[in-house]
Amino acid sequence: YRLGVLLSGRGSNFESILNAIKSGYIKNAEIVVVLSNKADARGLEKAKESGIDAFFINPNGLQREEYDKKLVSLLKGYSVDYVILAGYMRILSDYFIESFENKILNIHPALLPSFKGLHAQRQALEAGVRFAGATVHFVTKELDSGPIIVQSVVPVFDADTEGSLSNRILKTEHKIYPLAVKLLSEDRIKLKGNRVMIEGDFL
Ligand code: GRF
Repeated sequence: YRLGVLLSGRGSNFESILNAIKSGYIKNAEIVVVLSNKADARGLEKAKESGIDAFFINPNGLQREEYDKKLVSLLKGYSVDYVILAGYMRILSDYFIESFENKILNIHPALLPSFKGLHAQRQALEAGVRFAGATVHFVTKELDSGPIIVQSVVPVFDADTEGSLSNRILKTEHKIYPLAVKLLSEDRIKLKGNRVMIEGDFL
C-alpha cells in the first residue's frame, strides 16, 4: 500500500511508522509523500532526510475545501491508498473525507470517546481520571469519532503534569500507530458498522 502522511509539527508518530517500515515490522506499506500545513514542521525535514517527497502546502487565502482539493489531488497524484494523520492540526473538509472514505487514520492522545478535540491530556488531568491513553481510529466527518482500531492505556499519577502525562501517552502512540498500520497493510482490519474487527491475534 502507498501511504500519504499529513502532519503539522514534530512528526514523532510519522517517524515511528517510518521506522517500523524500515525495520520490516510493517511489510506491505511505504510512505510515498508527506504534506504539512505548517512551513516549519520538523516532520517535513525528517521526511526529506529519509528521501521521502515532502511538501509544505500553504493554506493562506484558501477556503478549507479549496485547500483540501489541493491536498487530495496531490495525494491522488501519488496514488495514495491510505492517508495517515500524524499530528495534523487542521480540520478536514467533508470533501477530503469523502475522497478517501474509510481510508484515513488518525491518532488521538486520549481514550476515545473521552476527551475529543484539543489538549486531550489536559482534559484527562482536569477530569481526574486514573487511566489515560491513546486511540488510533478511522476518520469520519465528526471530529475524533470514527471507528476505533487500537487503543493503549497508561496510568495517571498524582504528580503528573500535562507534560509528564503527554510523554507517557506518546511512548504508547509510537507502538500502537505502527501496529494499526501493520494490521491495515496486512488486510486484517474489517469495518462492521461502527466497529472494527481485527483478524488474528495481534497483542
Ligand atoms: C500526538 O500527541 C498525537 O496524538 C496528536 O498530536 C501529537 C502529534 O505528535 N494527534 P507528533 O507530531 O507525531 O510528534
